[in-house]
Amino acid sequence: MRLLVTGGAGFIGANFVHQTVTHRPDHQVTVLDSLTYAGNRASLEPVASSVELVEGSIADGPLVDRLVAEHDIVVNFAAESHNDNSLRDPEPFLQTNIIGTYRLLEAVRAHGKRLHHVSTDEVFGDLELDDPKRFTEDTPYRPSSPYSSTKAGADLLVRAWVRSFGIEATISNCSNNYGPYQHVEKFIPRQVTNILSGVKPKVYGAGANVRDWIHVDDHNRALHAILDGGRLGETYLIGADGEADNLTVVRTLLRVLGKAEDWFDFVGDRPGHDLRYAIDAGKLRTELGWTPQYADLETGLAATVAWYRDNEAWWAPAKAATEAGYSALGR
Ligand code: NAD
Ligand code: DAU
Repeated sequence: MRLLVTGGAGFIGANFVHQTVTHRPDHQVTVLDSLTYAGNRASLEPVASSVELVEGSIADGPLVDRLVAEHDIVVNFAAESHNDNSLRDPEPFLQTNIIGTYRLLEAVRAHGKRLHHVSTDEVFGDLELDDPKRFTEDTPYRPSSPYSSTKAGADLLVRAWVRSFGIEATISNCSNNYGPYQHVEKFIPRQVTNILSGVKPKVYGAGANVRDWIHVDDHNRALHAILDGGRLGETYLIGADGEADNLTVVRTLLRVLGKAEDWFDFVGDRPGHDLRYAIDAGKLRTELGWTPQYADLETGLAATVAWYRDNEAWWAPAKAATEAGYSALGR
């Protein structure tokens, strides 16, 4: 099996490559990644001898066409992924998330290859804090930010290519991931590396926003389950019943790191900040028999904290520039 993993030098993609190389030694893995600020060769270092890394963009039509022709399955992780960046400069989000997905679709159509498109629960917009509902595969799309609207656009392109051209594709929409190799711009690694650097965590608004946290390895196990047994043309939601508000997450991190639980700052809120995400992963669980292995958020967070404590050489080079960007926004 020849697997083309786009965005495989980013957070979830790199963890997917590690899991694939470890548990599927018969798979041949190529990573296509343009190594933006979020892509990091060092994240593939432990598996470098088993993986070919091609530096290039999913928006480069001829390159994508050649690579897709040489592989059996494409798993598309490549994206601009950070909401705060999409508020600062949306254009790269349109180029990668929309045009890049379009180029992949045209290549899998031309060569009759299978595509799995990795997406987000943010395409559904947000829920009220006290709403008993959770997102399902039937929830209408209602994205809020430039990031989530470009992911929604990409998902709709995939659906249209399935229906109009009969391409073999599946889509997954996952909730918030945490784990090793996540860029320090994101909430959990930002706070962990702040605390490790002697700086207080920064909580947007009142900290009441809820995210449905899942360990990245559980997400990637779900992706393998979909690649193995997912029905073509279908969408699967991925989530591990990990709802927690941001204050709870920060206090847990402070506790794990031996600090007082009130040692953090409130900072200005993100414009348009989605209130709550929550996933009903019933279809994935019943149809494909997937269950998360990290049932408990605190255990997963403790393992993640340990990873960042042990891997300062991986995150330190990006820390100062990331914090300078947040300072400019007053956050
Ligand atoms: P990330 O920002 O850590 O990694 C993205 C990777 O894509 C980087 O390696 C980057 O260099 C690469 N990339 C960007 N533009 C590219 C281009 N034009 N061509 C090739 N490579 C390019 O993101 P992530 O958190 O690993 O997310 C991966 C995917 O999963 C994204 O599609 C995201 O929307 C989705 N997702 C993320 C989460 C989450 O919590 N992080 C949850 C659900 C879904
Ligand atoms: O739901 C899936 C999505 O989760 C993915 O599609 C995105 O790629 C991923 O970035 C993530 O989006 P969020 O916007 O939810 O993640 P982020 O880590 O930026 O923020 C998580 C929550 O923490 C959110 O409510 C904003 C808040 N936050 C974030 C930062 C960086 C803070 O309170 N302080 C911070 O410093």
